Amino acid sequence: MGGRDAVLRAEGLSKRFGGLLAVQNVTFTQYAGEILAVIGPNGAGKTTLLNLLSGVYRPTSGRLHLLGQDVTDRSMEARCHAGLGRAFQIVRPFPEMTVHENVTVGALFGKPGGRLPEARERAYALLERTGLAAHADKAAHELTLLQDKRLEVARALATQPQVLLLDEVMAGLRPAEAQEAVGLVRSVRESGVSVLFIEHIMPVVRDLADRVVVMDQGQVLAEGTYREVTAHPQVVAAYLGTEEGLRA
Ligand SMILES: Nc1ncnc2c1ncn2[C@@H]1O[C@H](COP(=O)(O)OP(=O)(O)O)[C@@H](O)[C@H]1O
Ligand SMILES: [Mg+2]
Repeated sequence: MGGRDAVLRAEGLSKRFGGLLAVQNVTFTQYAGEILAVIGPNGAGKTTLLNLLSGVYRPTSGRLHLLGQDVTDRSMEARCHAGLGRAFQIVRPFPEMTVHENVTVGALFGKPGGRLPEARERAYALLERTGLAAHADKAAHELTLLQDKRLEVARALATQPQVLLLDEVMAGLRPAEAQEAVGLVRSVRESGVSVLFIEHIMPVVRDLADRVVVMDQGQVLAEGTYREVTAHPQVVAAYLGTEEGLRA
């Protein structure tokens, strides 16, 4: 593979919920520095896959390697310490705490033995980077949706990940706001963090992703550049009749 280092390697990951195989034998590799998109119709298994990557769920079968280590049996916290950060689809900061305190929590959680003064400083730097510095002392519940998403990204970055997982962080944003969020994700990558994101807004996928993994009914349907996967007949078929379509 041309000497590129893998940051994430999923090998035959499956997750069963009772009679349903929500994720079925999913294999893919994410390389260092890559922005990788996971797309697919509703119910395709994208969020379940992310939950398998972050450690919310243990797989029914399959293995996961993070930065060369097998982390399949490691907890969410251990994976975070090993370099995996995550922002959630449903934003859930501590609403009564300030924006700065929320990010400080992330900074303390990421590295074991973190000290409060450094964590507060690092949190403030991240607020500047994510455009939230002016809101540092607001209660988290006072933020707008766009600011909430920025806070989620800042909290995840505070754990100093080498790989950042994002689940539909653009959902609900207006096009101009989504464009801003695209800029933020690009700057995250430029800082050396590999990004894996789930997204249903196709222009965002086209603009951001180096490579795209398409899921349908729990399985990987196609993998490649945006142009390659959107030209794939099975991908076109899987998207036919969905509200977004592929031209969105
Ligand atoms: N905790 C769960 N228990 C049972 N079924 C689940 C659970 N989470 C997801 N599912 C089911 O797994 C399938 C994949 O869901 P999900 O991963 O959320 O898809 P996506 O994020 O692509 O929309 C769906 O049929 C969903 O109903
Ligand atoms: Mg989902």
